[in-house]
Amino acid sequence: AKRVRVHHLREAKTAGRRLTMLTAYDAPTARIFDSAGVDMLLVGDSMGDNMLGHDTTIPTTMDEMVPAVRAVSRAAQRAFVVADLPFGSYEASPQQAHASAVRMLKEGGANAVKIEGGRRIAPHVELLTGAGIPVVGHLGLTPQAENALGGKRVQGRGEEAAAGLLADAEALVAAGAVAVVLEMVPGPLAHRITDALPVPTIGIGAGAGCDGQVLVWLDMAGMADWSPRFARQFGAVGTALAQAAGDYVAAVHDGSFPGPEHTYEA
Ligand code: KIV
Ligand code: NA
Repeated sequence: AKRVRVHHLREAKTAGRRLTMLTAYDAPTARIFDSAGVDMLLVGDSMGDNMLGHDTTIPTTMDEMVPAVRAVSRAAQRAFVVADLPFGSYEASPQQAHASAVRMLKEGGANAVKIEGGRRIAPHVELLTGAGIPVVGHLGLTPQAENALGGKRVQGRGEEAAAGLLADAEALVAAGAVAVVLEMVPGPLAHRITDALPVPTIGIGAGAGCDGQVLVWLDMAGMADWSPRFARQFGAVGTALAQAAGDYVAAVHDGSFPGPEHTYEA
């Protein structure tokens, strides 16, 4: 299948073809999702809470992200690979964002980076875009700001907040953003922002009016301990894995594994 490139994102929007994105943090899952036709693989800083045992995304570091980005990039044959810039790796200045983004492309092999925030980080987006680094924006509930936002709450309720979110989205696009993730935004507002932007919106808890959808893969596949209301479980991978591990333990205990077919002759 033909590789997904940056211009395909806008083309998909124009053609009304919905885009799909899933997180991936390693090669085996990236290979499976790529083969399933997922357009974009996001190496999210959600790796921190989903894979590394943290409570939030905030402790996730560049040094943790880069090897995961490399693994996903190597495994992806078709998908467009987006690397999250983690908390503390870009906010201070466009130069800081550039140094981190360069690592994601040079060491990680990513095709683009994602950064959280609106008008305040438009200068960062502009510098990266000018340097040849495609940027995906992220607005609404931005988990790296959850201490400031007072938890994981729906964002953009009320006319003033809605106008602010729309202005943020337009500023990101003016600065060169190639797509914008909208997280936990009321459906009608996400639809309105989608209509206003020339680039695709990728929704998560933002309704069907977005140009595409993204989920954390553990939520999508039924592998998480807990999932937010906006996620649907499309599988029961956690249950299947628990069953497999339990069967393995039982087979070793009862002597039925390994059998002759798993054993080398003298
Ligand atoms: O890190 C992540 O998984 C994300 C998505 C939920 C958009 O930023
Ligand atoms: Na993220």
